[in-house]
Amino acid sequence: MRILVTGAGGQVGLDLIAYLRGAGHEVHGSDISPRPSADALDASVPWHHLDVTKGERIEALLREIEVEQVFHLAAILSARGEKNPGLTYAVNQGGTYNLLEACRSSGVTRVVFTSTIAVYGPGLAEPVGDAVSLQPQTMYGVTKVAGELLGDYYQRRYGLDFRAVRFPGLISASLPGGGTSDYALFMYLDGVRTGAYEAFCRPDTRIPLMYMPDGVRALAELGAADRSSLSRTVYNIAAFSPTAAEIARSVADAIEGVEITFVPDPMRQAILDSWPNALDDTNARNDWGWKPAFDLAAMTAELVPQVRALVKANPERFASHE
Ligand SMILES: NC(=O)c1ccc[n+]([C@@H]2O[C@H](COP(=O)([O-])OP(=O)(O)OC[C@H]3O[C@@H](n4cnc5c(N)ncnc54)[C@H](O)[C@@H]3O)[C@@H](O)[C@H]2O)c1
Repeated sequence: MRILVTGAGGQVGLDLIAYLRGAGHEVHGSDISPRPSADALDASVPWHHLDVTKGERIEALLREIEVEQVFHLAAILSARGEKNPGLTYAVNQGGTYNLLEACRSSGVTRVVFTSTIAVYGPGLAEPVGDAVSLQPQTMYGVTKVAGELLGDYYQRRYGLDFRAVRFPGLISASLPGGGTSDYALFMYLDGVRTGAYEAFCRPDTRIPLMYMPDGVRALAELGAADRSSLSRTVYNIAAFSPTAAEIARSVADAIEGVEITFVPDPMRQAILDSWPNALDDTNARNDWGWKPAFDLAAMTAELVPQVRALVKANPERFASHE
C-alpha cells in the first residue's frame, strides 16, 4: 500500500516509517521541518515539505503522490502547546480539518489519527474507558478531542475510513517533542549522560506510558484492521502505568549510581494531575487484537543500551534538552 505520514520527522514518525516499510508498504514522509539526516531516515524514503495549516498544499500533494492511506501525526504537543495555544489550535485543529478535507476531496480512503490521554480531564473513575466525558484541561487536549470528533464526522458524512488511537506517553531512545510525559525519558537520557536528573513532577505521579515499538505497532495494526471488526473510531491503548518513583527505581537498577530527584513544575504537574492514572483498553483488545509486548522492566532492559549508543553517537545533540 502507498502511505503518507504527516509530522513524519518527529519521535513517532521516524519509527513508524521504518515499521511500515518493514511490513512492505511504500511510505512517503512529510513535515514542516526539513528532511531528517540519513542516519535517522533511509535516503530512499520520498520526503515532502508539508505544512498542514496549508490546506491547498495538502490536497495538491495527495493528488500528486496518490496514496491510499494517511497517518496524520503532525501536531504541537502538550507542554509546548500551553506556551503557544494559538499555534496549537492552528496546527492541531486547523491542520486536522485541512487534512481530512484534502483526503475527502482527493480520494484517500483511510486516515489513521494519533490522539492522546490528554483528551481526558480530572475526576474520572480509573481505569478510564473509551466512552467517558471528555473535559481536557489543555489546548492540546481540546484540539485532539476536536480531531477525534471531526474524523468521526467525516466517516459518517463522507464515508472516509477514520481510525484513531489515544496514545499514552510514549518513550523511545530519541529526543521527545515537548510532551508532558517527557520526564520519563529524561530519567534514562540524563541518567546515561550525567548520572543525575531532576524530574519536573512529584514522585507519586502516575500516568499511562508505552514503549515506542508497541506504539508504532499499534498504529500499524489499527491501520491494517478489517473495518468490519471495528466497533468505534477511537481506541484507548494501554501498556503500563508506573509512578515516577517506580521509573526512577527501574533506571537506577539499570544504571549504577544514578540519582533522580523530584522538583515539580506547577504547570506541567497540573497537566499530569489532570490525566488518567490508567486506561481501560478492552475495546482495542477485543476489536483488533491489541496487546502490548513491553512492561516497564522489559522497556528499561532494551532502552538503556539504546540510549547509551545514541548519546555516544550524538554527544552535542543530547547535551541539553530544556
Ligand atoms: N510522543 C508522545 O508521547 C505522544 C503521546 C500521545 C499522542 N502523541 C501524538 O502522536 C503524534 C506524533 O507525536 P510525536 O511524539 O512524534 O511528536 P513530535 O513533536 O516529535 O513530532 C511532531 C511533528 O509534527 C511536525 N509539525 C509541527 N507543526 C507542523 C505543521 N504545521 N505541519 C506539518 N508538520 C508539523 C513537527 O515538525 C514534528 O516533526 C502527535 O499527533 C502527538 O499528538 C504523541
